[in-house]
Amino acid sequence: MKHLLSIDDLSVDQIQEIFATAGDMHDVQHRSVKKLPALRGRTVVNMFFEDSTRTRSSFEIAGKWLSADVINISAKGSSTSKGESLRDTVLTVCAMGVDGLVVRHPASGAAQQVAGWVDASVVNAGDGMHEHPTQALLDAYTLQRRLGSLEGKHVAIIGDLTHSRVFRSNVQCLTKLGAEVTVVAPPTLMPSGVGPWSESAGFATSYDVDEVLPHADAVMMLRVQRERMSGGYFPTAREYTVGYGLTRDRLATLHPDVPICHPGPMNRGLEIAADAADAAQSAILDQVSAGLAVRMAVLYHLLAGEESSA
Ligand code: CP
Repeated sequence: MKHLLSIDDLSVDQIQEIFATAGDMHDVQHRSVKKLPALRGRTVVNMFFEDSTRTRSSFEIAGKWLSADVINISAKGSSTSKGESLRDTVLTVCAMGVDGLVVRHPASGAAQQVAGWVDASVVNAGDGMHEHPTQALLDAYTLQRRLGSLEGKHVAIIGDLTHSRVFRSNVQCLTKLGAEVTVVAPPTLMPSGVGPWSESAGFATSYDVDEVLPHADAVMMLRVQRERMSGGYFPTAREYTVGYGLTRDRLATLHPDVPICHPGPMNRGLEIAADAADAAQSAILDQVSAGLAVRMAVLYHLLAGEESSA
């Protein structure tokens, strides 16, 4: 595996191999000394042209715990703000001898484009509304640990699907691992081409949260991405919460063993009530912890050398 740009790049065996490595990396988080020598001498650059808390910090910690040299570049504070192109920025950084680039960019397809310009391994850390493969890996890893296996499990993904790269990567990853996925959104936030009328999407769709929740083995709430909505109809916040939010009343209908996931950042009180986010069955902080382990595993498999086979 040279790059990780899409879940489509990975076979089921490769995903399970990453999960097995992540299990070992998870154990490292509980040690008093967390450094492993696996990437000593390697250099990883995190290039974030869009804001991030979880992904950027976990990739930085992941690289450092594997003993790589890690630097961070963001749009603000780099020469991008002076008009330098993405290609010139990437080629400039790679001319310094970089082994891995972790790229987040607001344009769909940006990570794929970067991979075509450089010899370094590229990880897509979220490209526009396209994909966020490491988020999907960490979500599936979290659910697999909670549920034992994803085979035949019913996962409900609920929220603003139109603007969600997490949804696009997650349906691929979860269905590859044998889960049955139902996606739920208001009609205005259901991507075009996906809906109850679509027969070939590989997952079920619904506009009715209350019909789907009783059958769910796991629930994944997605953020309403107001920053990506430049116009058009959107339910009011109140309408959205009443129709699609994981409210206190809906939480009461879930079995206490049903994990509640959210990739973050959350709009508390909009798509998820505080009671649900903080419930004993919430897996949200487990996702964060898993994110570090999975990103350590991804960097290891991409950069550790010949012995890596994922
Ligand atoms: N889930 C996620 O990608 O969060 P950040 O934007 O904080 O990285």
